[in-house]
Amino acid sequence: MVPKLPDIDFTNAAFRHRLTQGGGRGQALAKAVGLTKGRTPDIIDATAGLGRDGFVLAHLGAKVTLIERSAAIARALELALKQAKAAEPLFAEPASRITLLFGDARQVLAGLAPSTVYIDPMHPARLKSALVKQQMRQLREVVGSDDDSALLIQAALLHARKRVVVKWPMLSALPDTIPNPSSTLSGKTTKYLIFAR
Ligand SMILES: C[S@@+](CC[C@H](N)C(=O)[O-])C[C@H]1O[C@@H](n2cnc3c(N)ncnc32)[C@H](O)[C@@H]1O
Repeated sequence: MVPKLPDIDFTNAAFRHRLTQGGGRGQALAKAVGLTKGRTPDIIDATAGLGRDGFVLAHLGAKVTLIERSAAIARALELALKQAKAAEPLFAEPASRITLLFGDARQVLAGLAPSTVYIDPMHPARLKSALVKQQMRQLREVVGSDDDSALLIQAALLHARKRVVVKWPMLSALPDTIPNPSSTLSGKTTKYLIFAR
C-alpha cells in the first residue's frame, strides 16, 4: 500500500498556537541553536521533515535553510511554504526567511559553509507508538527511520563553523562514533545535544 503523505499546514490553529504560545526565544529549541536576545544565527535544518522546528526558528527571526532528502516530503513542504507565503504576516514572514533544498544533507552541507546545523533524525518507532503523533507516524511511514543519522552528524561536525545541535530521545544513547556533546539541554522526552565548534 502507498503510504499517505502527511498533510503539512503551517497556517492551522494548532501551529498558530505553537508559534504564538511556544515560549519564544526561551524555548529549549531556540536556546539550543543559540538564538538569544541580541543574536540571530542563520540555521541549516538538515532534517526538514514536516518543517515545524525550522518554521518556529524562522518565526523567531532566523534565516533557515531546510534540507530534505525525501522527494515526496520536499514537495509537500514546498506547497506548504507557498501556502504560508500567501497567508497573513504571522505565517508569511517566517516563510519568506526559509529556503528549501532537496537532497541528502550529507552532501549538501559540504557546499554551504554552514554556521549552525540542526539535526532531528527519525528514530525507530517507540513501543508506545500510540503516543507518537499521527503526522509524525505518517512521516515515518514515508521516510522510514534514519538509521544513518550518525553519518549525518559526523558530516555536520565536519562542516559547521559554530555549532551543531542534535535532537535525541531522552533515554537513548548516542552512537559511539559521535563525540560527547559540549552541553545538553533537556526537555521531557527529548534532549538537545549541543556541539560547539
Ligand atoms: C524526524 S523528521 C524531522 C522533523 C522536523 N524536525 C520537524 O520539526 O518536522 C526527520 C526528517 O529528516 C529527513 N532526513 C534524514 N536524514 C536526512 C539527510 N541525510 N538529508 C536530508 N534529509 C534527511 C527525513 O527524510 C525526515 O523527513
